[in-house]
Amino acid sequence: LKNTPANIVIFGGFGDLAWRKLIPAFYNLFIHDYMPKQFAIYAVHYQGLPEGAYEKHMLEGVNLFSRSGKAKKEEWKRFTDHLYFFQGDFTIEDTYTRLKEKLEANDAEWKTRATRLFYYSVAPNFIETISSFISQFNIADNRQKDRLVIEKPFGTDLASARALNELLNKLFYEDQIYRIDHYLGKEVVQNIVAFRFANHIFEPLWNNKYIEQIQISVTETVSVGTRGSYYDKSGALRDMVQNHMLQLLSLVAMDCPGNYDAESIRHQKVKVLKKVRPFNSASVAQHVVRAQYTKGVVNGKPQVGYKEENNVSRKSTTETYVSLKLYIDNTRWKGVPFYLRTGKCMDKQASEIVVQFKDTPYKIFKDDVVPNRLIISIQPRQRISLLFEGKVPGLEMKLMPLEMDFSYKRSFTDEAPEAYETLLLDALHGDATQFIRADQVETAWAIVMPILDNWVKDSSDMKKYKAGSSGPVEAENLFSDGKVKWLSLP
Ligand code: BG6
Repeated sequence: LKNTPANIVIFGGFGDLAWRKLIPAFYNLFIHDYMPKQFAIYAVHYQGLPEGAYEKHMLEGVNLFSRSGKAKKEEWKRFTDHLYFFQGDFTIEDTYTRLKEKLEANDAEWKTRATRLFYYSVAPNFIETISSFISQFNIADNRQKDRLVIEKPFGTDLASARALNELLNKLFYEDQIYRIDHYLGKEVVQNIVAFRFANHIFEPLWNNKYIEQIQISVTETVSVGTRGSYYDKSGALRDMVQNHMLQLLSLVAMDCPGNYDAESIRHQKVKVLKKVRPFNSASVAQHVVRAQYTKGVVNGKPQVGYKEENNVSRKSTTETYVSLKLYIDNTRWKGVPFYLRTGKCMDKQASEIVVQFKDTPYKIFKDDVVPNRLIISIQPRQRISLLFEGKVPGLEMKLMPLEMDFSYKRSFTDEAPEAYETLLLDALHGDATQFIRADQVETAWAIVMPILDNWVKDSSDMKKYKAGSSGPVEAENLFSDGKVKWLSLP
């Protein structure tokens, strides 16, 4: 696979994602010798740029964002021999005529029909136009070799996601369509399947008999920053829950796939998502909390309130925080609450999954016993820890919670690849395991739709939280018994 030549076309090749993520990822794959010998990247952008300006800007991106630090001159030079700025308007035929010539010329030179990867790093309203032209010009006509990588947001609701799927499925085969969710490329996220199914000791406990509740938190300290115009139309539920968080949920909750391959894994993931108990007006009111940040201090820096951010409506009813409780109605999970929360401008950045086990059935100790807790920390720490009770050294039988801790930093010397490196390489190799299938994206939209529908009717439930805080106090009310709360390592 490694030596299969590849033509890569990035629509939006001069955009922010290309600058921060895509070009640094390709560069890292290149210097670590994962790219084929023969490859070309065409970065399509509607405006022309002065000679050398594209490379200069991308070098700056690599120097700022690449995990390998600053690019070495010689390596960067070798990389740019494969990198071409391509001025072209996505909406006119001429762009595709010229692109086709390039792709075919490379095939002729390389004496093979190269893999073609078309990366849509564009605003959603361009997806249809670009796809129609790609189809019209027959440049992705080889089902085995040609793939389209589509960035989120994939639709803005169930109806638009369905319409987009229909359009794409009319023009291409589903197995050519790689809907990307960068969370699935994260090292610890990929480890969830290994942890659960390559060990015999956890799976027997992974059910409602032993598990009390599961929490999935993605808290961020960043604000909406320069993304106000996108974010104000989106909000935390669309931006994080519909995609990243429901993907995490499906990895944690799914049954064991028959094989480790794209179809078996995606089948199990969608199967469990279909079992999420549908929300209705009553459960939205009771089990979902939305909020907006107000003025505060984050990481020691003053932060304006959400409504004061650039390109955000002063009357905005868009949530920057959401937490919710959901249930999965199957035999494994019946009665186990899953708590999900995400927000911007919070007190700390942490993506974590906490599996809280039940109390011991019978108490023989005087001391209170803290139930076992398994914590999968995705970022910024990368670790998996198990909290257990043990005896404090000494003459008495005194207990305290202790921790078994697996940390990536301690166990591995090699730095983990960036999510985009993993996913881009998978896409080049035609491995769709970590990409989203049409039915997955629609199922995830179906879960959040009743929440969105209820929210548009009435926004009086919008809560507030101070920037730099741990979220709205009302989020604690989700824990109806009052005993449990948002958990982490002690
Ligand atoms: C993106 C969202 O998909 O994920 C952003 O649009 C969010 O709003 C980001 O900040 C979080 O990703 P990560 O990898 O920084 O956790």
